[in-house]
Amino acid sequence: MLTAVLGMQWGDEGKGKLTHLLARDADLVVRFNGGPNAGHTVIDRGVKFGIHLIPVGAFHPGVTSVLASGMVIDLAILREEFEAIAAHRGEPPDLLLASNAHLILPYHRILEDLEGSGARIGTTRRGIGPAYRDKAARAGIRAGDLLTPDRLQDWLSRRLDLLRFSWPNAEPIADLSASAMAARLLQDATPFLEAIGDASRAIRAAAEAGKTILFEGAQGALLDVDFGTYPMVTSSATTFAGLGNGIGIPNPPVDRRLGITKAYTTRVGIGSFPTELSGQLGAWLQERGGEFGVTTGRPRRCGWLDLVALRHAAALNAPTHLAVTKLDILSGMKELKLCTGYRLDGETIGEFPADDGRLARCEPIYETLRGWEESIGEAHELSDLPGEARAYLDRISEGVGVPIGIVSVGPTPEETIICGF
Ligand code: GDP
Ligand code: IMO
Ligand code: MG
Repeated sequence: MLTAVLGMQWGDEGKGKLTHLLARDADLVVRFNGGPNAGHTVIDRGVKFGIHLIPVGAFHPGVTSVLASGMVIDLAILREEFEAIAAHRGEPPDLLLASNAHLILPYHRILEDLEGSGARIGTTRRGIGPAYRDKAARAGIRAGDLLTPDRLQDWLSRRLDLLRFSWPNAEPIADLSASAMAARLLQDATPFLEAIGDASRAIRAAAEAGKTILFEGAQGALLDVDFGTYPMVTSSATTFAGLGNGIGIPNPPVDRRLGITKAYTTRVGIGSFPTELSGQLGAWLQERGGEFGVTTGRPRRCGWLDLVALRHAAALNAPTHLAVTKLDILSGMKELKLCTGYRLDGETIGEFPADDGRLARCEPIYETLRGWEESIGEAHELSDLPGEARAYLDRISEGVGVPIGIVSVGPTPEETIICGF
């Protein structure tokens, strides 16, 4: 059985919680995109973690965690997480690191700051854009290069020469040394050197042997570099459409594709957000939902659920099921609004303009549903939910055209309703 967990919004939908829950029965858990820009929250046996790189299946024994070629990897962060999970579990997690996954190097973060991407497009400042850019420019260093230290140092030295040429007055770049950088990389990579290999072949073999594989998406469809709200997006493919390329398997036979959406919408960073609630209600949702970024601590902007955006995400993720998370946060709201269309330049549209400029001109059209008072954290079945909450879920499912397979009513694995997944 192959299952994918995919974000349907601007990230932070609760992928970490659900991947951790579903990974209990998995043989392989695979991350196929992004890097430490992701922040996936897991509560494992009462302890909370914010994980950036290691697939969160690593919390369970018997799971191999695969960092596939679509990722960009910061070895220092990988090592920190590896050690934290090993200490928590009492044994190190089993990892496989794609030899053709690119590394994030110290100069990627420096370049991101020199270029001002944090202020311009609200990035996480983890070096993501410059690392993917080096990959496309064929100037990147890959995990497999760690296995030939002489060549690694030679490549780093040539890369630094070019950087000094482009940034002759940048002190942080002038201060870098290829030999010190290579030594640091090899030190951070020590626990993983034997784990570097052909991830694509391993995933293919596992799929052919009938193993249980879970793909853990990072970010969300609206942050996709091609089909998201460009240019306020990340630098990689974030959808099911990108999964095949991220693991090197054409048309991967993924049986279940779980599209995750919060019961409302959040966005961290800069960019258009038609259903944003900028007043008291937005602040209330932010506080009640604990909406602060796992990676940067920035407050997440909050707003109503947007069916137009979700339909766009569904076209890219082809979900067989939806998972609606954080439904518990909406308890106590008198009424709930769902965005069903936009007004753009005097016309009503139902298609999502995946372009930040056009999206900025869209005004949401809402329908209003009744809210509910009761807390719902104890619900274990759909029938335990108030009628208004069920009606809200039904309307979401109908509006997106995808059945709901999971409803999450709290951050712990126990606070989950599995309904037909
Ligand atoms: P991810 O990036 O998609 O893994 O999501 P994040 O971990 O960045 O953000 C989701 C946040 O919501 C985390 O703090 C989770 O612990 C929390 N969370 C997930 N599901 C639920 C839920 O159903 N209810 C509540 N109250 N919190 C949830
Ligand atoms: P998870 O996996 C939310 C956003 C950043 C910024 C834009 C570009 O936890 O859902 P980048 O550093 O990738 O170049 O930043 O993308 N972003 C995320 N927002 N959740 C994430 O990951 C994100 N990863 C990147 O805030 O707006
Ligand atoms: Mg997150």
